[in-house]
Amino acid sequence: MTIPQPSNLHYDVTIVGLGYVGIPLALGFVEAGLRVLGLDTDEGRLRELQHGHSPLAHLPSEKIARALATGRLHFTDDTDRISESAAVVICVPTPLRRHQDPDLSHILSAGEQVAPHLRRGMLVSLESSTYPGTTREELRAVLEKGSGLKAGVDFHLAFSPEREDPGNTDSVLRHVPKVVGGLTPACLERALELYRHAVDKLVPVKDCDTAEAVKLTENVFRFVNIALVNELKRIYTLMGIDVWEVINAAKTKPYGFMPFYPGPGVGGHCIPIDPYYLTWKVREYGTDTRFIELAGQINRSMPYYVVNHLLEAMNAAGRALRGARVLVLGIAYKPGVSDDRESPAYPIMDLLRAKGAVVEYYDPHIPRIVPGHNSWSGHQSIAWRAHELATFDAAVVCTPHPGVKYAELADNVPLIIDACHVVPADRKANVVAA
Ligand SMILES: NC(=O)c1ccc[n+]([C@@H]2O[C@H](COP(=O)([O-])OP(=O)(O)OC[C@H]3O[C@@H](n4cnc5c(N)ncnc54)[C@H](O)[C@@H]3O)[C@@H](O)[C@H]2O)c1
Repeated sequence: MTIPQPSNLHYDVTIVGLGYVGIPLALGFVEAGLRVLGLDTDEGRLRELQHGHSPLAHLPSEKIARALATGRLHFTDDTDRISESAAVVICVPTPLRRHQDPDLSHILSAGEQVAPHLRRGMLVSLESSTYPGTTREELRAVLEKGSGLKAGVDFHLAFSPEREDPGNTDSVLRHVPKVVGGLTPACLERALELYRHAVDKLVPVKDCDTAEAVKLTENVFRFVNIALVNELKRIYTLMGIDVWEVINAAKTKPYGFMPFYPGPGVGGHCIPIDPYYLTWKVREYGTDTRFIELAGQINRSMPYYVVNHLLEAMNAAGRALRGARVLVLGIAYKPGVSDDRESPAYPIMDLLRAKGAVVEYYDPHIPRIVPGHNSWSGHQSIAWRAHELATFDAAVVCTPHPGVKYAELADNVPLIIDACHVVPADRKANVVAA
């Protein structure tokens, strides 16, 4: 079923930004029977998509090929074609600049692309995670300036945060409740009308600012709880208590406790970044976000903690890190995905290299680090072979990808620093939890 529109409209919705969020969203709308135009500025990505190839390791190409076969999905870089759509959903990146302030450049350039093609009655919905006020102030200004139309009067404007959970097969667009806020009640109604096609449960909130705050709250919650459990790990380790055993026992409590797990730090395009959008914005109100900043300090210190454990373990064995061959396992920021943005594996690799270690990595999802990405660009994953593993003096487990043979690792590498609690402790290697 498609949304009734003037007959010259070929698409119900254009998705601007075809990444971890935009692609699953486009597929969800196609599955719901809508006609979808996917727009991106990355030519290589578009070519892959047009040929039915998934650029995302966790998303099978068949899903894209199947959606293309319906004839209701097309991909383009031609921004003029936005005018063929009844609605536009923007899913572009929201990174931080070098000094931790928000980089809205992608949102603003997407807005500039959309503005000349805005029509009366059209809907623009932003899904990128950002601070409260972005849709109402920044995006609105760009759209109004470029179109000469007025948001909430001539066109509809909304914000709906994305809850995509890459790699989690249980998390399907249709079944994850979706929060929606509109600039006006009519904007909200129009946004609900669009999303209702693809999502079973919608959660309307008062306005765009509230919807933006919902997303930041969800991610701040994860950010501070991960920091808390990382701090508990450090404390319990000193006390000779196994933090994983503590968490597994604590989570048997049927109420009032939610398990979070320690690790080598936090990564990804959301959790280490979004909280600082709030930190930056509240300065305008003369206050600060002490909890967020403390959590950030703890999470950012975890790579040092992990490397220190390696140094101490090598020292105890009478060995130096300088010149040692160290294998880092898992450079994606979480298990089962190929996304290595903000991965704590990189600061760990940097620290090891700075101390003179010879660093290699193994990641079945990232065979090669993309060029221009960071100082490790172009490095390739080692092949998983017992005789190759046996050439390393130590290994550091950063990301617990499923399918990795940790027992085989422990049988071939003499020392393992396990930040993820996945290596069987009864193997030959000296396994240190960190
Ligand atoms: N990755 C996640 O799991 C996740 C989950 C929830 C929310 N989010 C949020 O969703 C937003 C998008 O994240 P993502 O992970 O999908 O990013 P991504 O980097 O995977 O994809 C973004 C895409 O947008 C394209 N793009 C950038 N500027 C553009 C423009 N002006 N016009 C057209 N295309 C443009 C890029 O080429 C890229 O393909 C971010 O705000 C992020 O915080 C991400």
